[in-house]
Amino acid sequence: MGEQFQGKVALVTGGGAGIGRAAALAFAMERANVVVSDIMVKGGEETIRMIREAGGESIFIKTDVSQQSEVEALILKAIESYGRIDYAFNNAGIGQPPALTADYDKSAWDSVISTNLTSIWLCMKYEIPQMLKQGSGAIVNTASGAGLFGVPTMSSYSTSKHGILGLTKTAALEYARAGIRVNAVCPGPISTEGNKAYVAVHPELEAKFTEMSPMKRFGTPEEIAAAVLWLCSDAASYVTGIAMPIDGGQSAQGFTVE
Ligand SMILES: NC(=O)c1ccc[n+]([C@@H]2O[C@H](COP(=O)([O-])OP(=O)(O)OC[C@H]3O[C@@H](n4cnc5c(N)ncnc54)[C@H](O)[C@@H]3O)[C@@H](O)[C@H]2O)c1
Repeated sequence: MGEQFQGKVALVTGGGAGIGRAAALAFAMERANVVVSDIMVKGGEETIRMIREAGGESIFIKTDVSQQSEVEALILKAIESYGRIDYAFNNAGIGQPPALTADYDKSAWDSVISTNLTSIWLCMKYEIPQMLKQGSGAIVNTASGAGLFGVPTMSSYSTSKHGILGLTKTAALEYARAGIRVNAVCPGPISTEGNKAYVAVHPELEAKFTEMSPMKRFGTPEEIAAAVLWLCSDAASYVTGIAMPIDGGQSAQGFTVE
């Protein structure tokens, strides 16, 4: 990607594992300074160790993205450390145990909505003022294929991911003339720590996820990271407000008559 990321500042939430770690590493390989944040200290510190070992520059800031004061402190610390935020990958999220809508529990609902959806709004609430000061910035939010379709037994997860797309498009329109682009990625099934743990508890899902994809395989975290970097890059300078599926063709299919 040339020199465009060199010396720029990328913030990644949920950077201690999976898609977030792959994106943090990808930003670092392009020589951006990377602020890795995660609720999990071990994973976050491991990511910055990997970045530093590869010759990159990174700091870790422990953050629970569902907590307003922690998100505010994260953004302040990132700016204090590197002076600006050029790219924000708001990615931290959790799944939900399968349950029918009417059987679901209010506290589980609240936890998924605050961790997956309110968190993205909180991140943008504090990232955007800094980007407005700079007159530039690119934000990528992690939604999901579950943000494009209803998914039986995943009401809170699917709702949170649909909500992220509403938020992404709204912010994209609000700040389109201010030099800030806001997009979302919608991954299909990706082989991450989070997904592996989920499939370990529900083993029947492994074959289901593979079958669902026209490519008949899981995606890799690096395949999502590549799209995130492209969305942040100058090559995407006219791209804002999109929900980009990265799913091996899953969202292209309707029903089959084969
Ligand atoms: N893996 C998939 O198949 C898939 C598919 C579609 C969307 N997604 C989305 O991609 C994102 C990343 O998922 P992943 O598969 O890499 O998961 P993962 O579990 O491997 O990594 C997620 C990271 O987020 C962190 N995290 C969780 N709650 C947090 C909180 N409250 N505050 C800060 N950090 C927190 C975790 O500690 C973990 O390090 C999520 O938003 C997820 O919903 C994943």
